[in-house]
Amino acid sequence: MSVAIDLSGKNALVTGGSRGLGAAMCRLLAEAGAAVVVHYSSAPDRAKKVVESIHRAGGRAVAVQGDFHRPDDVDRVAAEAQAQLGNISILVNNAGREEALGPALELGWPAFQGIFELNVRSAYLLTRALAPGMRRAKYGRVINILSMAAHGYPKNMAAYSTAKTAFAGLTRSLAVDLGSEGITVNSVSPGWIPVERHGPGTLPGRLATAARTPLGHLGAPDDVAGAVLYLASPLAGFITGVEIPVCGGSQLIG
Ligand SMILES: NC(=O)c1ccc[n+]([C@@H]2O[C@H](COP(=O)([O-])OP(=O)(O)OC[C@H]3O[C@@H](n4cnc5c(N)ncnc54)[C@H](O)[C@@H]3O)[C@@H](O)[C@H]2O)c1
Repeated sequence: MSVAIDLSGKNALVTGGSRGLGAAMCRLLAEAGAAVVVHYSSAPDRAKKVVESIHRAGGRAVAVQGDFHRPDDVDRVAAEAQAQLGNISILVNNAGREEALGPALELGWPAFQGIFELNVRSAYLLTRALAPGMRRAKYGRVINILSMAAHGYPKNMAAYSTAKTAFAGLTRSLAVDLGSEGITVNSVSPGWIPVERHGPGTLPGRLATAARTPLGHLGAPDDVAGAVLYLASPLAGFITGVEIPVCGGSQLIG
C-alpha cells in the first residue's frame, strides 16, 4: 500500500514564508500540490527566491507583502491572496519574532503588544478573513506555529512566551468555534531549530542543545514543515485543537 499526501486543487497561505521555517513549509506544501501564497514583510528578493524555487519544481506560488504591525496590511494580505489564487483553504500562521528580550518588568507593555500583534492578532484577523473561503472550498485547515518556549518559560523571554501561550489559547478556542463548519485549527510547536537568523552558531552550543533531546540531534526546518503538511492534509481531518511538539522529545526531559 502506498499513501501520498495530495493537496492539488487546494490553496495555502503561509505567513512569514520567505525564510526560515516558513520557507520550508511553502516548499513542502507546494511539493504536495498546493498553490502557495508566500507572505513576506520585508526583503522581497527572499520571497522571490522561494517562489522561483517552487516554480522550478513545477509548483504554483505567488508572493504577497504585508507588515503585520498594521492591521490594515493583514486584511490586505488576505484579500490579495484570495484575489490571486481564489479560496484559501490552508492557512499557516507562522510569522513571529522574538523581538523583545529582557527582564519582564523592564520590557514595558509596547514590547508585549508588538509580539501579540505578530503572533496573535494577525492569526485572528487572517482566520476571520479567510474562513468564509474555507467554507466555500469545503476544506479548512488553520495551523498556528507556537513554540516550546510557551512550555518552558525561558528567562528574559516573557513577552514571547506570553504571546505564544495566548496563541495556544486562541488555537483551542477557534478549534471549538469552527469545528462545526469543518475547519480544523491545530498547532505545531518547534523546539530550537537553527534557521538563517541564528547564523552559523557554535558547535558546542548546538551539541549541548542536541544532547537535551531524547533523539540526540537537532531538528531541521523540514521537520516542522512535515508536521504542518500532515495537519494540512486530509489525513488529519478528524484532529482539531491539538499541539504537535517538534522538538526531538525535549518536552519529556525539560
Ligand atoms: N526556529 C526556531 O528555533 C523556532 C522555535 C520555536 C518557534 N519558532 C517560531 O517559528 C516561526 C518562524 O520562525 P523562524 O525561526 O523561521 O524565524 P524567521 O525570523 O526566519 O521567520 C519569522 C517570519 O516572521 C515574519 N515577520 C517578522 N516581522 C513581521 C512583521 N512585522 N509582519 C509580518 N511578518 C513578519 C518574517 O518575515 C519571517 O518570515 C515563528 O513564529 C517563531 O516564533 C521558531
